[in-house]
This record gives sequence, C-alpha cells and structure tokens, in this order.
Amino acid sequence: MNTTELEATVRAMTARGKGLLAADESSGTIKKRFDSIGVESTETNRRDYRQMLFTTPGLDEAISGVILYDETLRQSADDGRSLASILQSKGIVPGIKVDKGTIVMAPGSSEKITEGFDGLAKRYEEYHQLGARFAKWRAVYSITDELPSPRNIRLNASGLARYAAITQQSGLVPIVEPEVLMDGTHTIERCEQVTTVVLQGVFEALAAEGVALELMVLKPNMVISGKECVVQANARQIAEATVRCFRRTVPAAVPGIMFLSGGQNDVQATENLNAINALSARHPWIFSFSYGRALQAPALKAWQGKKDNVTAAQNAVQKRALLNGAACRGEYQSQMEQAA
Ligand code: 13P
Repeated sequence: MNTTELEATVRAMTARGKGLLAADESSGTIKKRFDSIGVESTETNRRDYRQMLFTTPGLDEAISGVILYDETLRQSADDGRSLASILQSKGIVPGIKVDKGTIVMAPGSSEKITEGFDGLAKRYEEYHQLGARFAKWRAVYSITDELPSPRNIRLNASGLARYAAITQQSGLVPIVEPEVLMDGTHTIERCEQVTTVVLQGVFEALAAEGVALELMVLKPNMVISGKECVVQANARQIAEATVRCFRRTVPAAVPGIMFLSGGQNDVQATENLNAINALSARHPWIFSFSYGRALQAPALKAWQGKKDNVTAAQNAVQKRALLNGAACRGEYQSQMEQAA
C-alpha cells in the first residue's frame, strides 16, 4: 500500500473549510436531472454541463475534490484538456464513483445491496492513470419499523469494507458511503437508532478487512426526520442527534465525515451542516460536505443547457460552495443567502 500518496490525498480532501462536489451521477440519474430542465441527456450535453461546473472561477476556494462518473473521467473540455486535468490544475482532487448501483438483495426483498466488484482492481489501474486519487462506493438502507434487516446491514457493511480494502491497495482513498435514506414517515429518533447500528456494522467490517481508518473518508447521512414524518426536527436537534450518533460509532482515526445531502434542499443542507459545526463540542474529525443535489440544483436550474447561462450557473454553484465552506466553520448565517 502506498501510504504516502494516500496520506497526501486524504489531507487534500479534508482541508479545513472545504468539501467535495459529488458530480458522479450515473447515466440514469443525470437523465432525470436533465429531464427536469428539458435538456436531452447526450454525451455532449453531459460534457458541457460538467465542463461548466469544473471551470467555475474560484471553485477551489471551497471545493477540495470532485467525484466523477466513468464517462466524465474520459472527457475533455473545448480547449482539449481532460476535465480531470482542469480540476488538478486548480488543486482540486478528482475522484471516481466505482460502484455499479444497487440490486435487490434476494428475490421478494425490498432491500438493496451494491454491486461493482468485477474487475475492480484492474479498473483502478486505469482510473489512477486518468488522474483519479479517491473513489466512492454507496450502500443504501431503507427505514421502516422492521427494516433495515440485520442481513442487509451485514451484507452492505462487508461490501463497503471489501471495496475499501481493494481501493487502498490500489493507491486510492476510499469514500465509504452508507446512506440511510430519508424516505418515509420515521422519526429522527428512529433514524438515529438505525444510523447507529448501520455505522457499528460498517466499522466492525472495516476492522475485519484491515482497512486503515486514517486513510479513508466517511460519507454518511445526517440523523434527520423522515421526509414524510409529521414532526420535522430543527437544525439544532439534527446537529445534536448527528454528533451524538457519530461520537458513539466512528473511531477517532477517521479524518473526515463528509455528509451527503440525500434530498435535503440546498439551504437546509447548509443550515444543518452549520448547526453541526456550531455545536461547541470538540471532535476528532472534520464535519464537511460531499453534496450532489444540494450544490448543483440552483446551477442546473440557471444553466438550462444554454451557453449564455454559463456564468449565471457558475455563480450559483460557487455561491453554494462558499456558503457550505462557511458552514464547515460554523460561520454560516441565513442573511448570507441574500448577499451572495
Ligand atoms: P446527494 O448529495 O445529492 O445526496 O448526492 C451525494 C451522492 O454522491 C450520493 O451518492
């Protein structure tokens, strides 16, 4: 294992006041995003959109790394430079989503497990050459009164751990993403209970696989009320439950906890991250962001697939990046939404 390179990567990814831009939507997911603005999902349009995001002036002020999709890592900008090298030239680390999505765990089950192990070590050789220095693998868990089942927790944990071990051996930093979904009527207390057992399972499996916890990043959900729950916890309650849950489950060796937004709207995702960082408790990890929708939604809306809108779209993504950067320091205030 090339520890020196992994250390440099993880240090760059977890730089204070910065977070990750998740731009790794699979072909199916980006189509859904483009459908929402009436833009056809062609390879050129996908390239244009990602080029717009990555060439945002000053993006490196609050973005330390970008998670790419396989196709994007192979694409070049109008000036002929690869999209990955544009990020590198700004000191932003390119990463790659390597899981191949989810499948049902067993016939008749509503639970999912993640696939993508085929040829993974081999794929990493090429990804490393193309500039990727970290990877992402996502496992999903649904909440009901009965779920997630112990079997689903076990299988997803062992998948995440096996992926993390292969990733480190290949010279890339693994982002371990266990996502407990927000969909449902469950309370924040139920989310805390489930997130706690999920994380316990994940760290047990990581230890069993001999994963170096210093050389990984955790990308979890916040502890939050179900979307359809009648009682919605406020930012302070979310922050307290989230921090309590992580103090109980995440070893101090892990350098960074970089949240997914998971369907929170852009402002909520910033407010909640800020509330977490504004709690006076001291933590061994940084609490930052690795947002997809919460960073991109306003930019996508401003862009509309038109060259004339590139500057407006870049301003929109830069605004969210800077506000989330402020939230990493607990310095975000709602008035900033108007100012920028
Ligand atoms: P969201 O922030 O939109 O949840 O996306 C993050 C991500 O990478 C999901 O895998």
